[in-house]
Amino acid sequence: MANADFAGIGIDTSHDWIVERTGIHQRYIAKNGESVRSMSTDAARQAMQRANVQPGEIDLIVLGTATPDRLLPSAAVEVQAELGASRAAAFDVSAACSGFLYGMQVAEGMMAASGYATTLVIGVEKLSAAVDWKDRTTCILFGDGAGAAILKRARPSLAHALPGVHAKGILSSYMRSDGTLADLLQRPSGGAARPFCEDVLNDRSFFITMNGREVFKHAVRSMADAATRALDDARLTSADVDLMIPHQANIRIIEATAKHANIPMDKVFVNVDRFGNTSAASVPIALDEAIEQGRIKEGTTVLLVAFGAGFTWASMVIRF
Ligand code: ACO
Repeated sequence: MANADFAGIGIDTSHDWIVERTGIHQRYIAKNGESVRSMSTDAARQAMQRANVQPGEIDLIVLGTATPDRLLPSAAVEVQAELGASRAAAFDVSAACSGFLYGMQVAEGMMAASGYATTLVIGVEKLSAAVDWKDRTTCILFGDGAGAAILKRARPSLAHALPGVHAKGILSSYMRSDGTLADLLQRPSGGAARPFCEDVLNDRSFFITMNGREVFKHAVRSMADAATRALDDARLTSADVDLMIPHQANIRIIEATAKHANIPMDKVFVNVDRFGNTSAASVPIALDEAIEQGRIKEGTTVLLVAFGAGFTWASMVIRF
């Protein structure tokens, strides 16, 4: 869906306004029949093919989303069923735009603590079903999509033999939250506190509401902090980063975060212009494109960083 298409649905906006404030030129909207389940399964199958992993090998599925197809059961079990991942445990992680990085860290921790050897982590969102298509302050921002990654537990000899600058795999992880700011970006109704009813339908409070300016401020501050923390934990500096993949919310947030984190824009991956903000799907979609474009190769040090409703924020340093 291009910026020009908003005129056709009665939204008073313009391509220039959207590009100037957000950097977004277009976003993808799921077709009728496309769902969180179908997008997740498509992404998962591609990731499994590239990693040469069969469904029966997956021990765990962790799925980050704020827009599950239904409230019960989890989206993860639907993916488990569709893939035929018969021995996998499966559950969702609710951390909005940080959902993929939260999911990666949950997976990393569970793999370290248990016998799990192979994990599928998914970030997926069908935000077109959650935005108010009459609210021009939010509906221009979001898009639908999914991304997936396979994590494999490394042999101890690989993971720990060469600490410091030669280490490989996940070098550090960081996550935080501040629920005192939950009201700044939320779906007020439709949950147990205010279940769906005629009033909710009339006041449209089951759609996303957002205080854009406040979100902007906190996003920059928190993502810059998360970037520094993950680098410190990995005993690296910003100069060691080959590529930063930030959550693709808005080009101005990305640029300000990169500046605060002291990472030049030529080392920052950007695709918000083509995808808009796909929330939990944004980091894994960008990760996939970065690999496809050859910007991530063996030995590349990548800094992933995200921020979302909650607020939640998270970061991770991976050497491929
Ligand atoms: N088209 C045209 N005009 C608009 C639109 C639109 N789509 N939306 C708002 N405006 C108008 C407003 O009504 C306002 O008009 P007024 O001055 O007459 O009242 C004017 O533009 C300025 O509005 P602001 O909200 O102050 O604009 P701002 O510069 O803050 O940009 C934006 C808004 C793009 C939402 C910005 O605040 C932002 O990017 N915030 C971050 C939000 C975000 O990315 N959230 C995603 C979820 S969280 C995450 O992923 C990190």
